[in-house]
Amino acid sequence: MTDTVRKPMTLHRLREMHAAGEKIAMLTCYDATFAHVLDDAGVDCLLIGDSLGMVLQGHASTVPVQLSEMAYHVACVARGARHGWIIGDLPYGSYQQSNAQAIASATALMQAGAHMVKLEGAGWTAETIRFLVERGIPVCAHLGLTPQYVHALGGYRIQGRDDAAAATLVRHAREVRDAGASMLVLELIPSAVGAQVTQAIDIPTIGIGAGPDTSGQVLVLHDMLGVTRGRLPRFVRNFMTEGGTIGDALARYVAAVKDGSFPAAAHAY
Ligand code: KIV
Repeated sequence: MTDTVRKPMTLHRLREMHAAGEKIAMLTCYDATFAHVLDDAGVDCLLIGDSLGMVLQGHASTVPVQLSEMAYHVACVARGARHGWIIGDLPYGSYQQSNAQAIASATALMQAGAHMVKLEGAGWTAETIRFLVERGIPVCAHLGLTPQYVHALGGYRIQGRDDAAAATLVRHAREVRDAGASMLVLELIPSAVGAQVTQAIDIPTIGIGAGPDTSGQVLVLHDMLGVTRGRLPRFVRNFMTEGGTIGDALARYVAAVKDGSFPAAAHAY
């Protein structure tokens, strides 16, 4: 992909891709160099995830991550990216207190270079999403397994397993959509529920362990490059195993998301 062919990604373009049934390829990204490499590989959306607390900082969860640290990494990515849609994750404790806290935190990420912010959770988040969207901040919601609440959830467990839990997930998805969210990350849920939620709402769903029928996919960069230590969740595929450069692995990821071959049955629940 060359600079002359690819224009900067916009929300309008993402909506067009969704309407046309083109899968959206998202990856996490935390610095300028990788932003450049991800752009070259054709990744549509660069998520500065609070997963950086685990993969960069060595914490056991995303809970300790600070807003100032997120703003720093958003700024690094924004300096390196030329095409990708930049999504900054609001970390734990930066939006739960009040709408005033949420807009101050979202403003910090937008001023650092984000095009959209992401926040985790159902129910009460609808009011926060509405507040931010009405004030001109595009929002990505995040349902299913929400890692910031890992202690309340009792660990990194599959969500939405039974009919009642699946129905609740669909209701929550409708609520965040009605509040104005323009994208929804779905994490660690059965494939059938990923499909059900995707059919129930008219905004793109981006799955991570949510099966093949979401509107797009996201993985943690270090996981898909095979450099994460320890046991990885079943939904991860290491794209480096076929050889070549990091750029080749990223291009394989984009191609596999676009043609629907990732995730395969082996990566689904
Ligand atoms: O923090 C993150 O990287 C995320 C993705 C796993 C979706 O939220």
